[in-house]
Amino acid sequence: MKKAIYPGSFDPVTFGHLDMIERSAKVVDQLIVAVLRNNAKNPLFSTEERVSMLEEMTKNIPNVAVQSFDGLLIDYAKSVGATIIIRGLRAVTDFEYELQMAQTNRIVEPGVDTLFLTTSLEYAYLSSTIVKEVASYGGDISHFVPKQLIELIYHKYRKEIKQ
Ligand code: PNS
Repeated sequence: MKKAIYPGSFDPVTFGHLDMIERSAKVVDQLIVAVLRNNAKNPLFSTEERVSMLEEMTKNIPNVAVQSFDGLLIDYAKSVGATIIIRGLRAVTDFEYELQMAQTNRIVEPGVDTLFLTTSLEYAYLSSTIVKEVASYGGDISHFVPKQLIELIYHKYRKEIKQ
């Protein structure tokens, strides 16, 4: 059985992530979407909020589960018995960091391989950072995230302004 993890910050999950999840779930038997817990990036959404958004958005894909993890990705992969790490490549700018991560992880644990999927062209520009930037100015994010998440994202910024 091919068990894979798709790790990330997902702060927030975008159409680009969901496209990756749908496509990779077709390639493997079981996919765990793994939300990084100890994120130095000071996330907009708590781990629980990110997990819950992902659960809602993936509830119709039977072989996908959502979890959070702490510490090294490779240790987490081993602990859940995953042998594949899925990552998306948008542009050449992603490549250097992704190559370094994949190679480091493989040195540490040769039994776990990183599988790269290129993002669909319509999402090649998209990142959680872009979504947050546009939302922070009250811009239209409907092309970037599912409609159920739009209000949750705007709400974060309204709360920040009030404080
Ligand atoms: O969505 P992101 O922020 O690009 O995801 C990055 C992630 C979570 C895959 C990466 O930061 C990660 O694996 N963090 C856990 C710590 C770790 O294992 N770092 C890599 C060492 S090579």
